[in-house]
Amino acid sequence: MKKSLFAVILASSFVNAESFINSYEYGEMLYKNPRGIGCDKCHGKYGEGMDLGSYQKNNKIIKIMAPKISKSSFVDIKNSLKQSRKRSVMPEYFLTDSEVEALLYYLKKANEENGL
Ligand code: HEC
Repeated sequence: MKKSLFAVILASSFVNAESFINSYEYGEMLYKNPRGIGCDKCHGKYGEGMDLGSYQKNNKIIKIMAPKISKSSFVDIKNSLKQSRKRSVMPEYFLTDSEVEALLYYLKKANEENGL
């Protein structure tokens, strides 16, 4: 009897935990703090892309652009995080598939809600 009561209390605390932070907030949290520098710092608040500046090399101006990622697919994001990828300034990240899903959910919803 005591055991089943404990199970009920435990189960209901999970229900509460779910309403404490919703999928959008979870995705936003991962986008801004993906165990490393936030994606928003380079790709913008909603993944709209950003000009990160430029430098000069052999008398040529080389621009660094963080591309728009608001319409990126799951595979695009997964590939962008890998270390093996040829990259300029974007760091490597370790995010699970479900974390990438959550991040994508945030980008999609945030863009819909802001009419982007
Ligand atoms: C320090 C800046 C920086 C941060 C932080 C960063 N990126 Fe990037 N990202 C870039 C740049 C610059 C590129 C272009 C490719 C390159 O030069 O590495 C890029 C490329 C990408 C691409 C490929 C887009 C395309 O069209 O080719 C995706 C997807 C992406 N980033 C997602 C993310 C996600 C998700 C995060 C957070 C987990 C993140 N980035 C964090 C700078 C950044």
